[in-house]
Amino acid sequence: MEGSTSVRVSAHNVRRSRLRTRSASTLDARNRMSVQREQQRVTPRIEEAMRRALELAARGPATGANPQVGCVILSPVGDIIAEGWHRGLGTPHAEVDALSHLNAGEARGACAVVTLEPCNHHGHTGPCSEALLDAGISTVFCAIDDPNPQAQGGAARLRAAGVEVTGGVLGTEASEFLRPWLTAMRLGRPFVTLKWASSLDGRAAAADGSSQWITGEAARAQVHAQRSASDAILVGTGTVLADDPSLTARDAAGRLLPEQPIPVVVGERAIPAQARLRQHPNTLYETGTRDLGTVLSTLFDRGVRRAFVEGGPTLASAFVAADLVDEYLIYLAPLLLGGDRLALGDIGVGTLTDGRPLDIIAVERLGDDILLRARPSAAKER
Ligand SMILES: NC(=O)c1ccc[n+]([C@@H]2O[C@H](COP(=O)([O-])OP(=O)(O)OC[C@H]3O[C@@H](n4cnc5c(N)ncnc54)[C@H](OP(=O)(O)O)[C@@H]3O)[C@@H](O)[C@H]2O)c1
Repeated sequence: MEGSTSVRVSAHNVRRSRLRTRSASTLDARNRMSVQREQQRVTPRIEEAMRRALELAARGPATGANPQVGCVILSPVGDIIAEGWHRGLGTPHAEVDALSHLNAGEARGACAVVTLEPCNHHGHTGPCSEALLDAGISTVFCAIDDPNPQAQGGAARLRAAGVEVTGGVLGTEASEFLRPWLTAMRLGRPFVTLKWASSLDGRAAAADGSSQWITGEAARAQVHAQRSASDAILVGTGTVLADDPSLTARDAAGRLLPEQPIPVVVGERAIPAQARLRQHPNTLYETGTRDLGTVLSTLFDRGVRRAFVEGGPTLASAFVAADLVDEYLIYLAPLLLGGDRLALGDIGVGTLTDGRPLDIIAVERLGDDILLRARPSAAKER
């Protein structure tokens, strides 16, 4: 393994002049200690292991109440001896999954590299801090602290038991990777993605109200993938009454994708008994209210961490005006519609200097359409 070789070679160089005078066993012991000291200083090998842990984390489900977490166990000389990741609520955490691949005693003196601070609580599974201690792990590197007040404290527990714990390894990358979950935990409401599709002149529908479909197939396929990667999909009563959408996540052939979001209709009016939404594989949540704060906190309590808001313009504008959007997905079709059916209505901006600044994060070509991915400007971030 490239990284572990470089760790060994540099450790070797540091001690080269003393080699002739020491016995082989003393050298082995010193080698291990030196490698451990280097690991605590966050070597390229540790960063490489953290990158691997992030790859493993991405194998877990992006939806659900729990975060995606990955873990790599390194032997005292820096070789990967086990890998693990979390597969969702009720399944073993990444550290426990990785340790389960080792025989008793094999993890003694080893190093755990984990993307999130090990948990310290009894939830659906036991505390990871205890599992690492029981296994004899002597060093832990993590990327980000656990923001969950019920689960945090793992690093302190490990340190109190004599384990070396270093945080912040590839912290920026890991925070970006876990951004929706971290935002949800920090704010106590789901991470909100607002999507709309519009003509280049910003119209979400033509003068007669028709809006299906403004964008082409590639853009629509991408929207279905986004639905599938969300815990809930939200529309206003106006869209249900106008379009009778099914709000399912489907493939190009119209088949249901394995992961389906909970359909949520926001607004006071009742939804017709024969609405297509009632055939959705998940039970419809009719909020009966326009109060977005109440809707989001109810969803959070139900384990929703990612909410995908599909509009229409009235609901979208209400989310923007209430400063409740964390990410924008704006699909632009090469088409002019004119008229007054704008993608956004009143968002509480009366003058240019009150405009809501966005940072464009990505621009993607989808067939003839363009996807703009944007976020509220860093200066305005919560
Ligand atoms: N291009 C796109 O991406 C896109 C996406 C979706 C829809 N559309 C189009 O949009 C049109 C429908 O527009 P729309 O604006 O009526 O749809 P909408 O935003 O889905 O629904 C508006 C209704 O939502 C309710 N509502 C819920 N929360 C609210 C809040 N906080 N503030 C105000 N009202 C709230 C209100 O009805 P209550 O009286 O029931 O409370 C309101 O009349 C259709 O033509 C549809 O095809 C386009």
